[in-house]
Amino acid sequence: MSRLIDGKKFADSLCNKISKEVSKLKEKNVIPGLAVIRVGEDPASTVYINMKAKKTKEVGMHSVTKILDEKTSGDDLLNVVEELNIDESINGILVQLPLPKQINEDSVINAINPDKDVDGFHAINTGRLWSSIDSLVPCTPLGCKMLLLNELKDLTGKKAIIVGRSNIVGKPMAALLIGESCTVTVAHSKTKNLQDEVKKNDIVVAAVGVPEMIKGSWIKPGATVIDVGINRIEKDGKKKLVGDVEFSEAAKVAGAITPVPGGVGPMTIACLLHNTLVATCRKNNLEIPKFF
Ligand code: GUN
Repeated sequence: MSRLIDGKKFADSLCNKISKEVSKLKEKNVIPGLAVIRVGEDPASTVYINMKAKKTKEVGMHSVTKILDEKTSGDDLLNVVEELNIDESINGILVQLPLPKQINEDSVINAINPDKDVDGFHAINTGRLWSSIDSLVPCTPLGCKMLLLNELKDLTGKKAIIVGRSNIVGKPMAALLIGESCTVTVAHSKTKNLQDEVKKNDIVVAAVGVPEMIKGSWIKPGATVIDVGINRIEKDGKKKLVGDVEFSEAAKVAGAITPVPGGVGPMTIACLLHNTLVATCRKNNLEIPKFF
């Protein structure tokens, strides 16, 4: 049986460290502020942004939540983003995705001041990440990297495969693993012989959004498996949360594996607070604490 990578414990510990740094900043009269915008009433988005606001307050940061009507126009949302861009009490801005279809997501993301873009989705931050320039890094891949470094210490020379090529997870994850000197494969829905590709790798990051798609038999013995998937399914009449990896079988083969829930999920919010702290330190020319 493989080692279980406890993302909840790691995220709690990271939030504690962030909270201590926030206390030190307050002694310098600096209070990190995070603004989260939700447009419409999507139930999942509502749950996520409530969790984000709660954790923001728990670590002692200033939290602002803006809830806009489902029918809000792109221009009205851009005006709210611009207000927050110039608001001195706000260091991080997050617009919860997906947005209603009348709004162009790219234009909104790229209207956020890149230095307040704590999601790390702005084209400037994407460019910085791929050019190895200090940037704000997308939260979920950053959380995966922290868990991998904590588990393996040094990733140099490891063969890593990312299954999924989204802008939010797959692509930035590839940049981060290249940065750690891994040999990286990015697989996706058109990849041929996916199971053979997966089997060659020491690290597997699953981010396809398909419940239990990556089978246990595809995993190289001893590999480290990071499961980004959060899929709600019904099994034997019961509602269940499962990842993109067939956990029960993969856990028999892998060296270490993240569970769902309790693996990558809690890391995303912890990394959002981490990024807000980083943005605040950069803005105030203060040293950025190193947590990993
Ligand atoms: N929707 C689902 N995940 C995310 C995320 O990481 N950031 C934003 N802004 N929206 C999301």
